[in-house]
Amino acid sequence: MSKKILVTGGTGFIGSHTTVELQNSGYEVVIVDNLSNSEANVVDAIAQITGKKPAFEQVDCTDKAAMKNVFEKHGPIEAIIHFAASKAVGESVEKPLLYYRNNIGSLINLLELMKDFKCNNIVFSSSCTVYGQPDQLPVTEQASIKKAESPYGNTKQICEEILVDTTNAEPWLQAIALRYFNPIGAHPSTLIGELPIGVPANLIPFVTQTAIGIREQLSVFGDDYNTPDGSCIRDYINVVDLAKAHVVAVNRMFEKKNKSNYEFFNIGTGRGLSVLEIVDIFQKVAGVKLNYKIVGRRSGDIEQVWADTSYANNELGWKAQESVEDTLLSAWKWQLKLKEKEESK
Ligand code: WQD
Repeated sequence: MSKKILVTGGTGFIGSHTTVELQNSGYEVVIVDNLSNSEANVVDAIAQITGKKPAFEQVDCTDKAAMKNVFEKHGPIEAIIHFAASKAVGESVEKPLLYYRNNIGSLINLLELMKDFKCNNIVFSSSCTVYGQPDQLPVTEQASIKKAESPYGNTKQICEEILVDTTNAEPWLQAIALRYFNPIGAHPSTLIGELPIGVPANLIPFVTQTAIGIREQLSVFGDDYNTPDGSCIRDYINVVDLAKAHVVAVNRMFEKKNKSNYEFFNIGTGRGLSVLEIVDIFQKVAGVKLNYKIVGRRSGDIEQVWADTSYANNELGWKAQESVEDTLLSAWKWQLKLKEKEESK
């Protein structure tokens, strides 16, 4: 019988792509999502891609009683991949308690329920935001954790600390934190992708929405950074590559290949690209001219960060495969598909 994985936040951007990869690898998935930032029809799209509909429960992970019901109804659950979290950096500054309650409360509930229901494995969505502006680039997992720039970033740090302390205290528990760099792109089927609500805060959805005419102009936040072209540098990783890293992490714990009860890995490509390089590549692959202008810096932005992926590559046997060209093209195709759907309504 195939093992059952609970995917919290499974209808979201990364969660949905990960559910597809889990099902394609033979796992059975139970999705829990409160749909605060995603749509229920993503479950059908996953079914269309994989030929199998994952179980779905519209539940908020901060509701422990409801989560307990999920464990009772769908158990035994062999592992959890915990994506469910609030993730808007700006909003977290305005509503810090919402972020602390959601992001930290959910993890505590899950860890308590894992003990009660004898579920021993958890993969946690962490972020390169824990490094702040690293002193050395590319950044390795050994880099120091910098004081978080936002309550959102702080919740990721605190959750990692909770996992360190809990794996120390509870030898049955195994946890892997994946520190994502900047996930972008969409599934090649164009059936799932990123669905930002309102005005996108992230670069790629803003780029594709500008290219298609939903936004008038892309603002490039600063060209006076200490980088070759003056714009900020990030490590943009294809969401399907990222999703596959989760399958590898789960397998690693099932196969007891992990070196300690708590491990953490950089999940990026190892390549840094500037905002202006992204704009340039996008224009080439999409064959469209992007209306953009350089504006002032965005507060809280890190100047440059990209991953040293050698530890993840060697230890996990995982490596990002997709080129940034194909990845940007997939984001563009997804945007075109959304427009098509909108027009056929
Ligand atoms: C990328 C680059 C911007 C929009 C954030 C979180 C991180 C992660 C992903 C969660 C930056 C520039 C952007 C625009 C621009 N977590 N930009 N014009 O800030 O690296 O990471 O999202 O969900 O934790 O901090 O990503 O996509 O917002 O920005 O010039 O309209 O694009 O300044 O250099 P970021 P981003």
